[in-house]
Amino acid sequence: KPHSVWVSRPLFPEVLASLAGYVNVHAETGEGKRTPGQLRDKLADVDGAIIGLGDRIDAEVLAGNRRLRAIANLGVGHNNLDLPALTAARILATNTPDVLTQTTADYAWALMLAAARRVGSAERWLRAGHWHGGMRFDDWLGVDIHGKTLGILGMGRIGQAVARRAVGFDMSVIYHNRSRLPAAIERECGAAWVEKSELLRRADHLVLVLPYSAQSHHAIGAAELAQMKATAVLLNIARGGIVDDAALAEALREGRLAAAGLDVFEGEPALHPALRELENVVLSPHIASASAETRRAMARLAADNLLAALGYGPRAGDPPSLLNPEARGGRADET
Ligand code: GLV
Ligand code: GLV
Repeated sequence: KPHSVWVSRPLFPEVLASLAGYVNVHAETGEGKRTPGQLRDKLADVDGAIIGLGDRIDAEVLAGNRRLRAIANLGVGHNNLDLPALTAARILATNTPDVLTQTTADYAWALMLAAARRVGSAERWLRAGHWHGGMRFDDWLGVDIHGKTLGILGMGRIGQAVARRAVGFDMSVIYHNRSRLPAAIERECGAAWVEKSELLRRADHLVLVLPYSAQSHHAIGAAELAQMKATAVLLNIARGGIVDDAALAEALREGRLAAAGLDVFEGEPALHPALRELENVVLSPHIASASAETRRAMARLAADNLLAALGYGPRAGDPPSLLNPEARGGRADET
């Protein structure tokens, strides 16, 4: 086979097998963070790669690479990809939108329910055997979700899917997004656009679903947390770095915020040590898209993207989720 691809983390065997029907596959069998130098070495002799969100592909990693033509990201967010550098090198880049929208929206609710109703903390208490000592009637009091105001910061596909689920909880939904949604979609989602400061002041449960960029870095920092209700619950299913984790830990410790649910962290897999000490925060290791169906669909889509970018399959030359169409037309340095 003329083309070789590198897969940076263990994937579903059936997806690897379908890739291997077209190209030579070098698949890693272990997890682990790689340095730019290690990534550069792994990518030196392949035509394409399927990579995870922990693999940062930038000019440093691409320097001197004359062969690589396609990078398929396992995830919808792609702040780990330097798109201008990839485009300059005429390398096609793809992500996995849509297939994870509903599953990720489900998880926003999982975190919201768990954080508001103290599920994690109560479970730790029970597992530790404390129930045998009796329980007060006025213990384990959480905050309600039904009938409250749901705020959503970032109203893309996932944000809209989170909003649609609020109907059954009889919530009012407000959102902030740089651009306002068309009125018909606002109606369908039952969501009203407000300024960011109004969102912060009014939300009882605030879900963050915006992409990470220099502009959204610390979109929720000390100043923003200070505007929120002391009874509010904050949920981050977007990206680490959108929340100032140190400021959040302080607000949670001082009772200026009721609870938080976090699936993503600044500098993950590292965790701000203060977060681990707190009982009023639910922590999970970036698993919002991790249902059996959806992780398979993401892997398949990444494989389809990669094969199409390399000229194979029904979508040859036209990857379903291409991020940089400007990079089409082959590598500039190809002879
Ligand atoms: C997960 O964080 C994703 O971007 O898909
Ligand atoms: C973000 O890209 C989304 O799909 O909501």
